[in-house]
Amino acid sequence: MARIAVFNQKGGVGKTTTTLNLAGLLQRRGADPLVIDLDPQGHLTDVCGVTVPRADASLYGLYAHGVPLASLSMTTRNGWRLVPSHIELSKVDTQFGKGPAVLTRLAVALEKEPVTRPVLMDACPMLGVLSLGSVFAADGVIIPISTDYLAIKGALQMERTLKALEQVLKRRVPRRYLITRYDSRRRMSTDIESQLRIRYGDEVCATRIAENVSLAESPAGNQDVFEHAPASRGARDYAALLEELLVSGFIQLKPPAAAPAVRTAPPGARTALSAGQDAAARRGVAASLRLVHARRAGS
Ligand SMILES: Nc1ncnc2c1ncn2[C@@H]1O[C@H](COP(=O)(O)OP(=O)(O)O)[C@@H](O)[C@H]1O
Ligand SMILES: [Mg+2]
Repeated sequence: MARIAVFNQKGGVGKTTTTLNLAGLLQRRGADPLVIDLDPQGHLTDVCGVTVPRADASLYGLYAHGVPLASLSMTTRNGWRLVPSHIELSKVDTQFGKGPAVLTRLAVALEKEPVTRPVLMDACPMLGVLSLGSVFAADGVIIPISTDYLAIKGALQMERTLKALEQVLKRRVPRRYLITRYDSRRRMSTDIESQLRIRYGDEVCATRIAENVSLAESPAGNQDVFEHAPASRGARDYAALLEELLVSGFIQLKPPAAAPAVRTAPPGARTALSAGQDAAARRGVAASLRLVHARRAGS
């Protein structure tokens, strides 16, 4: 339970901020996280100060040529390993289709990584191979919800998307809704929090991430908030968040010695999608994707 997709179809909700700062915390705990930037816009890659000379040296290399993640990852100045993004990733859907083999490419690639290593996937806001693939590869999904006026719509959209995927995975995707950019002086923030807690109960993190200038400023210096402003509210909030996720078991860090060498695929992915040869699975994925797209178009 340490492979986490940070995903919301809505942009600007704090996905990259959450990935960056959870990665920083995990690194400081000695957990050696692998972080994957799935957004073709490459904000996380930029924040890390990384420039990728060729698309093939980014996550695109996995989809285009099956390059192993270990060959694509690089150590960032923050100390953790990043599989960077490249704008060419925006073509993955059209170039390689949406079949099961493509949808599970990331999950299969991660099987080669040690199970003890936590993985954070910064998903893109678009609904497609990259974001859906991150859910297939994940043990759980963190859904940041920024407390603005489209927040509830975004949460409902994500609920529908995950429900459609669950028909393929044959399991419920563990998730935590994370309230971000919270401002207790704003009625909208408190209203949205109440609505989320009523609808999603314990799946809403108790920790809220407050609106905090240090969180907005730290990326400009290629830093996480713990380096930029360790005493800030933002640093405290993200530290509390990781603590909550660890205590609740949503993220489980395994000591290296105790773990088996290779991780097996999530049960749903293995039975419904593994390697993608099974014809029924192909139909299931296609049907689910049609459902996802139809619902998206109608929402
Ligand atoms: N809690 C916060 N307080 C202040 N600014 C924030 C906070 N969370 C995110 N931001 C800022 O909001 C913008 C969008 O956040 P980002 O993490 O990039 O969202 P996403 O990845 O979902 O598009 C960025 O400029 C980021 O610095
Ligand atoms: Mg982002």
